[in-house]
Amino acid sequence: MAVKYELIKTCAQTGARLGRLHTPHGVIDTPTFMPVGTQASVKGISPEELKAIGAEIILSNTYHLFLRPGHELVKAAGGLHKFMNWDRPILTDSGGFQVFSLSEMRKITEQGVEFRSHINGDKLSLTPESATQVQNALGADIIMAFDECPPYPAEYEYVKQSTERTSRWAERCLKAHGRPSDQALFGIVQGGMHKDLRKQSALDLTSLDFPGYAMGGLSVGEPKPLMYEMLEETIHLLPSNKPRYLMGVGSPDALLDGSIRGVDMFDCVLPTRIARNGTLMTSQGRMVVRNAKYSSDFGPLDPECNCYACQNYSRAYIRHLIKADEMFGLRLTTIHNLHFLVNLMAQVREAIREDRLGTFRDQFFEKYGMANN
Ligand code: GUN
Ligand code: ZN
Repeated sequence: MAVKYELIKTCAQTGARLGRLHTPHGVIDTPTFMPVGTQASVKGISPEELKAIGAEIILSNTYHLFLRPGHELVKAAGGLHKFMNWDRPILTDSGGFQVFSLSEMRKITEQGVEFRSHINGDKLSLTPESATQVQNALGADIIMAFDECPPYPAEYEYVKQSTERTSRWAERCLKAHGRPSDQALFGIVQGGMHKDLRKQSALDLTSLDFPGYAMGGLSVGEPKPLMYEMLEETIHLLPSNKPRYLMGVGSPDALLDGSIRGVDMFDCVLPTRIARNGTLMTSQGRMVVRNAKYSSDFGPLDPECNCYACQNYSRAYIRHLIKADEMFGLRLTTIHNLHFLVNLMAQVREAIREDRLGTFRDQFFEKYGMANN
């Protein structure tokens, strides 16, 4: 067994799950937030800094590493952990999402997806088999089935065909998986915004007995209440002794409301992406440190934060760095935002342990602002 999920307890107030995920590169406390290191690097941040932030697992992308530098090269380096000098758990996404959002001239067939590289226009393809083999070569602790994430909105008939194909692809991924003893392959539930298709997808995938399950095709532009409806519709169909991962979700409010609905793992580029344009997540809500009003504010980004940036630098200094295009400014905002979410999840786990996640959520929303997330 490459991963083992241990359910410690559920929150009496909400039903949220406190757990531990045991992997070949260590234990992850859940619910957890996974920083995104698309190209085998969390932009601007070293593995030592990620550890200081408290990150227990990071996500990387098959699509990008397949295109550049190539999975064979990563394998020759001794695998992704060694290549990037990160000795904690890694999850790789399958490419089933990036190929649709980044590449050009995609053609989807039963076999897989043909596309042109967004880097040099080369004609390439990914199939359930090749996406799995690429992930076997990269060597992450958790790898993902090759899926199609239908756009939003999408016609019922299209989503039906796509979701059924994703189930057939999931079975092919399992068959192609060459390292089941040290890499856990997770299935991905699709079904768009159609409850019956979501249910069918969950049933198809659970019958295949994956060691973990993801909910995909969400946070693709739909209203949040609709996302939670889809989540609630399927999550109880997933086995309670396996981890549950909500893909591409990482706003503070959704980490809370997802945890409350029984999600164990989240990932999102949001904290790192907005950090690079000078936007911070703080205990008082979002803050744009580029604004002129912070030009002589010598207080920390967030007075309640004990990250490296907040302990050592002022808003005025970080604003100056960003205005002057100094890379260090973006490193500091990235460190802060990642710390904010990693720390939020530590507070979520503490609240679950004490059966008060509902109360914590309401208090957080009051301070952070609900619309302002
Ligand atoms: N990341 C965010 N959503 C998805 C999805 O639906 N599928 C995959 N593979 N990755 C995602
Ligand atoms: Zn901070």
